[in-house]
Amino acid sequence: MTGTCVIGLQWGDEAKGKLVDLLAPRFDIVVRYQGGANAGHTVVDGSEVYKLHHIPSGILHGGVDNVITPGVVINPATMIDEIDGLLARGVPVFERLRVSERAHLVMPWHMIEDRVINAQKVGGESIGTTNRGIGPCYRDKVGRTHAIRVADLVAENRDERIAMVAAQKVQILTSLGASEDDLASIAPATVVALCAAWGERLKPMIGDTTDWLLDACEQGRQLLFEGAQGALLDIDHGTYPFVTSSNSSGVGVCAGSGVPPRWIQTVIGVCKAYSTRVGGGPFPTELTCQTGEKIRQLGREFGTTTGRPRRCGWFDAVAVRYTARLSGVTHLSLMMMDVLSHFDELKICVAYELDGQRISSVPSCAEKLRRCVPIYETISGWDSPVDEVVSEADFPELALAYVRRIEELVGVPVGILSVGPDRKQTIFTRQAPGFPVLQGAG
Ligand code: IMP
Repeated sequence: MTGTCVIGLQWGDEAKGKLVDLLAPRFDIVVRYQGGANAGHTVVDGSEVYKLHHIPSGILHGGVDNVITPGVVINPATMIDEIDGLLARGVPVFERLRVSERAHLVMPWHMIEDRVINAQKVGGESIGTTNRGIGPCYRDKVGRTHAIRVADLVAENRDERIAMVAAQKVQILTSLGASEDDLASIAPATVVALCAAWGERLKPMIGDTTDWLLDACEQGRQLLFEGAQGALLDIDHGTYPFVTSSNSSGVGVCAGSGVPPRWIQTVIGVCKAYSTRVGGGPFPTELTCQTGEKIRQLGREFGTTTGRPRRCGWFDAVAVRYTARLSGVTHLSLMMMDVLSHFDELKICVAYELDGQRISSVPSCAEKLRRCVPIYETISGWDSPVDEVVSEADFPELALAYVRRIEELVGVPVGILSVGPDRKQTIFTRQAPGFPVLQGAG
């Protein structure tokens, strides 16, 4: 075994951070490979709660290297705040973190562009981005002319290049109607000074992570890839255009990290026992009634990054089967089972009805997905709490029946059940033969 991936199978917020933190001590290296500060990974360690945006969730463990690879977009100011917060709590970040010089930077103008353009609607609905400048940064990366990479922060011609791009961005944003304050915040001299300070702080961690990771694979070191967002937000395979700007499904691992497929053996697909979504876009199983509100309150479904209330709904097996296949998932990790302990009955979406036809796949167009009506199977709820259950055998029978039905519909065995936010509230099941990462766990 070399590479294990943790991939969200829904619209993000599947509690991947908890899982990565839990698995990290079994690995040598934790790798972030896409997304940026739009991600919010919460790690709970007893009474300590860590909210991480850029930094891999393995950072709390001694002996584990953490790597931010070329596919990630980094907001240096936010990342330095995150580093300082960890240092203040005694986490030796500089010893444990490496940052790729190929990664792109989310610059102050990207945040402004995101805000100005986010206000525009697609087909009457806003994408509802996190306003973290993610889309504009990836747009500049692909466009190539205005991009700034980590390497530029420590390059000899840094000041000259930053000043030139900043001057052009002032012109572009002036034409987009940005405010005087916004324009002042990206004045060339201001941004040049910021970049000099960022370069100074980040320099000790910057390097060629691609070469370093390839060496690590050849040396047999164990890698854990930490996905951000969820596969339904994948730029190529998600519910476009209501998606993020990176490949957040399993297909993004290799492109973002520079580690080729030959080193990847295990893919853990993480999903909640129900569904949530933040921002705009179709969500067939959304519950806008009291039941949705009950899930939101019991699951504390409010965004880690933006604080926005998450849209909540029943488990969508059609969508998760699609993303599990797309991501090459070998094992499921079913999260937030404790939240469902308080319902008389539960529903699972087993197919959609689209324009009078029963379909069992996710349509490629958001407009069609919006017209899909879920076809549900109703399953009995269970009446005892599961948050203190420590083994699969102690699970209420009806809760296990719910799990088994999800396995059948998605077509992948459940290897992990999560019953609460703490590391201890995790059950490693025996239903997943050949799950190397879990051998000896439980
Ligand atoms: P962006 O990634 O900020 O451009 O936002 C695009 C879409 O992805 C919006 O609907 C966001 O709410 C959603 N999104 C981005 N990051 C996350 C995340 O970490 N969790 C859940 N949704 C996210």
